Amino acid sequence: MTYVDAKTAPPRKTGQIKLHGPEAFAGMRRAGQLVANCLDMLIGEVRPGVATEEIDRLVMDYAFDHDALPATLMYRGYKKATCTSVNHVVCHGIPGEKPLKEGDIVNIDVTLILDGWHGDSSRMYTVGPIPRRAERLIDVTYEAMMRGIAVIKPGATTGDIGAAIQTYVEAQHMSVVRDFCGHGLGRLFHDEPNIVHVGRPGEGIVLRPGMFFTVEPMINLGRPHVKVLSDGWTAVTRDRSLSAQFEHSIGVTQNGVEIFTPSPKGLDKPPYAARG
Ligand code: MF3
Ligand code: CO
Ligand code: CO
Repeated sequence: MTYVDAKTAPPRKTGQIKLHGPEAFAGMRRAGQLVANCLDMLIGEVRPGVATEEIDRLVMDYAFDHDALPATLMYRGYKKATCTSVNHVVCHGIPGEKPLKEGDIVNIDVTLILDGWHGDSSRMYTVGPIPRRAERLIDVTYEAMMRGIAVIKPGATTGDIGAAIQTYVEAQHMSVVRDFCGHGLGRLFHDEPNIVHVGRPGEGIVLRPGMFFTVEPMINLGRPHVKVLSDGWTAVTRDRSLSAQFEHSIGVTQNGVEIFTPSPKGLDKPPYAARG
């Protein structure tokens, strides 16, 4: 794998990894914070009786109100501003008219384009009280993402990220989805490299300062296998076990990592409010 100065690279997938400078970091910070604020805004909106397409509408309006564009809109024929993945849906759930009900867990994934830069992040939301095993799944999934991010620095490899996630998750007797991975991003939504959420230390691609990518592990309570429904998008667990996901967009810095999409209010994971 070779690397290229993002400034001189053509604005498409080229098989080379783009390395970005300070102005690009500033652009990603702004796009990332917009997405994080949008995900914060949704916290009070995820309630029993609310349809996922209503949540999608809120994100659409939020984007347009902030001079941003949802990247998923018209992406490969996708027609929504978000992916809303409920319970055993692993990812790419299409917002629809079915209302959320108490006990559901839902991942909301938002990608906004601001001044040409892509901020891509997702969080889990809970609908009323949820079962204890769902709480555990959400906790393990968030911790898995953060452990993956924590090993990122120049000289580390993509395999180090996957290994950190896989070792932790499997020790909790849960499983890591193989069929979907993180991705480079920046002026493109999905760029090189792929960030696989399993792996072995030292394997894969060597990280360099200026790389931008997502870490977005999907974790299942049961087996890792998924299938895509006939709508061509919705991925579900084959064994219908619960699945969860969190996603941050990050940049590799000179000596570590910068997360572009942290919640400005510290609301990065449930529970978002003190329980009564
Ligand atoms: N936001 C998703 C990701 O994390 C991609 C969704 S593509 C869509 O990469 F078309 F399904 F919306
Ligand atoms: Co992503
Ligand atoms: Co995403």
